[in-house]
Amino acid sequence: MRIRRSKNPLNRNLKRIAALVGLASLISCGSNKTPVKLGVSSNQEVIAAMTLDEKAQLLVGDDPGFPRGYPSIFGGADTLFMSQPPVVGKTEKLVPGAAGTTYAIPRLGIPSIVLADGPAGVRIDPTRPDTSKTFYATAFPIESLLACSWDTELVQKVGKCMGTEAKEYGVDILLAPALNIHRNPLGGRNFEYYSEDPVISGEMAAAMVNGVQSVGVGTSIKHFAANNNETNRMSINANIDEKTLHEIYLKGFEIAVKKSNPWTVMSAYNKINGVYCSENPVLLDSILRKDWGFSGFVMTDWFAGRDRIQQVKAGNDLQMPGSKYIAEQIAKAVENGELDEAIVDRNIDRILNIIKQTPRFNGYDYSDNPDLQAHAKVAAQAATDGMVLLKNNRNTLPLGKSISKIAAFGIASFETISRGTGSGNVNSSYTVSIREGLENKGYKIPDELEPAYAEHVKQEKERVGEKKSYFDPDIMLQEKNWSEAELKQFAVDCDLALFTISRTSGEFADRKVADDFGLTAAEQQMVKKLSKAFHAKGKKLVVVLNIGGVIETASWKNEADAILLAWQPGQEAGNAIAQILSGDVTPSGKLTMTFPVKYNDVPSAPYFPNPSTNPQQADYTEGTAVGYRYYREAGVATSYEFGFGLSYTDFVYNNLSVDSLPDHKCEIELSVTNTGVSNGQEVVQLYLKAKDSKMIQLKHFAKTALLKPGELETLKFEITAEDLAGYDPKQKAWITEPGAYDVLLGASSEDIRLRTEIALDQQVVFNY
Ligand code: BGC
Repeated sequence: MRIRRSKNPLNRNLKRIAALVGLASLISCGSNKTPVKLGVSSNQEVIAAMTLDEKAQLLVGDDPGFPRGYPSIFGGADTLFMSQPPVVGKTEKLVPGAAGTTYAIPRLGIPSIVLADGPAGVRIDPTRPDTSKTFYATAFPIESLLACSWDTELVQKVGKCMGTEAKEYGVDILLAPALNIHRNPLGGRNFEYYSEDPVISGEMAAAMVNGVQSVGVGTSIKHFAANNNETNRMSINANIDEKTLHEIYLKGFEIAVKKSNPWTVMSAYNKINGVYCSENPVLLDSILRKDWGFSGFVMTDWFAGRDRIQQVKAGNDLQMPGSKYIAEQIAKAVENGELDEAIVDRNIDRILNIIKQTPRFNGYDYSDNPDLQAHAKVAAQAATDGMVLLKNNRNTLPLGKSISKIAAFGIASFETISRGTGSGNVNSSYTVSIREGLENKGYKIPDELEPAYAEHVKQEKERVGEKKSYFDPDIMLQEKNWSEAELKQFAVDCDLALFTISRTSGEFADRKVADDFGLTAAEQQMVKKLSKAFHAKGKKLVVVLNIGGVIETASWKNEADAILLAWQPGQEAGNAIAQILSGDVTPSGKLTMTFPVKYNDVPSAPYFPNPSTNPQQADYTEGTAVGYRYYREAGVATSYEFGFGLSYTDFVYNNLSVDSLPDHKCEIELSVTNTGVSNGQEVVQLYLKAKDSKMIQLKHFAKTALLKPGELETLKFEITAEDLAGYDPKQKAWITEPGAYDVLLGASSEDIRLRTEIALDQQVVFNY
């Protein structure tokens, strides 16, 4: 690239010549002959020593090799290429298979740093052409499962493992966690997100960030904001009223920023109310930095936005994955006065502050040898803690001593799905299938089942063909449909039927109602036939849901004796599922999303973007009535409500007390006693509700330690006036109105065990 003039006060000609001969770092300190180096010199000195081209290049990633412009699939206005397949971040530089790198300026001591996905573990290439060594990463459970553990300590522990793995593989910033709201069950990337509720999303994200960053690796909380669908995600305009935006779609990010100080934020692809997130100074500057105090840098999602100059102005500091062409545009805009160089310098300063904290800048000698065995144990523990037992008639689970031979059906009993696709994928060295997990626990699976499914999968794969790109969502294979006669025989030979229903999704596409949210015809038939055949012999049917997003359960759940929501539980899938089924671990997960009776009950169903109409607008007409907030208020029954989850033991809540504290605060205390027969953990949820409203809102939660039968734990929650506040768009402030409020302590959003009332005698306004 040719050297351009910088408007900074130093001698431009001298700088140009010096840069060419590699001396700029010596002369730019004026009379002081110490070389300018990041970390030794001030950022200001380092920036002053840069040429304009270097500055522009530092604001965009280190071009992974896309020739001029961006692929049309990303809606790049400056595209010259019209037919690229979908791509998520991938670079061969420094750490092959990472999502991208930043631009290095060695003469100023600025290294290129490495950014890698993602929410379920470090996504890098597992093999490299020049070595037989492998670079597998641990596939942890998907975020939806992690959230269902309601255990922030556990999530922090998972984050620490991911951070360590990132660090040992030479990655500086992990592109995670993702915390968009599950607005609708069809969201193709819901598996990468935590919940339909902003408080649990924000708390989980904060725990994850604190875990990853505790080892000196950065995070990028994403996608900021309202990236709630994949349909036309690069261009769609989310029309959201301000109250809803702040209370539902921004709140989780606010909690994460305030509680964990993430190094970076990734702006979302979409527009909000007409403005691309990456070009929006209100979002990136007024709200994120000024109101919430974010001090790191903002990067675009890969190829996001249209107006590269506006992105710089808006405070979207880094544009990923970057191209020389965009850097040239930025430099040109400075030269022709369209872009103030001080703004460029401001953004660079933020990027440099983070670079200085990275392992790469600090010369960390990474091993390429993380302790994968130790991390696998954490992945297994996380998986069991976040699985949700949805149904358990007449103590079907845990499996008793009389169960030894299990007839396992469903493709995913043999090819268990550990995670979603796209940038949420992880290249792990193995996935323990459900069959393997059960066999590891000593259960016997009839020998003929595995080869029968292997053959079926082979034929199905031939039928559906290859997907167009590695990053596309996987094409779902049809279930194998066994005849009634065959199933009858299994019911004679085996002690129990297990049927695994699976789903997969990922970037670039939302899910569909038919055959995805709903069961396919083959799945429905299998549930019915298995139920009939096994019940006829007095034997039971257990259904395992190996899914990444919510599915319909109401129409078929009566056929099953037990249903375990195992999610996509990471590489230890089968072992974790077997631990729950066998009773080694008592389930303690609870839903952080609602399982509605039918799709049309979902409040956003009429408005959720439908790909067949090529929508450019996503109207958030349902407002704040998202998930459980809606179902309870509207009195619409659910199949499994938010917060629901069964255990192998029982808990009783009592001894509720309320203590007033100064500054409009109060402390709530209660005790939880394990009154059942096995050890277990309970998740207690605290909801608040204004007396004159029907809408409840989750504000606090806690998970007990593992309680033995008869054991009791006292839990305390502090309620502040801010917990009661709503966003007022007119005053642009959070306001708590005086009056009475219900405090509801529940085992779920519908199962409220204890309640009390608190009151506030004056209005409180929160102006950040
Ligand atoms: C995804 C991001 C991801 C990036 C880099 C994009 O397609 O939306 O979540 O971090 O690719 O791989």
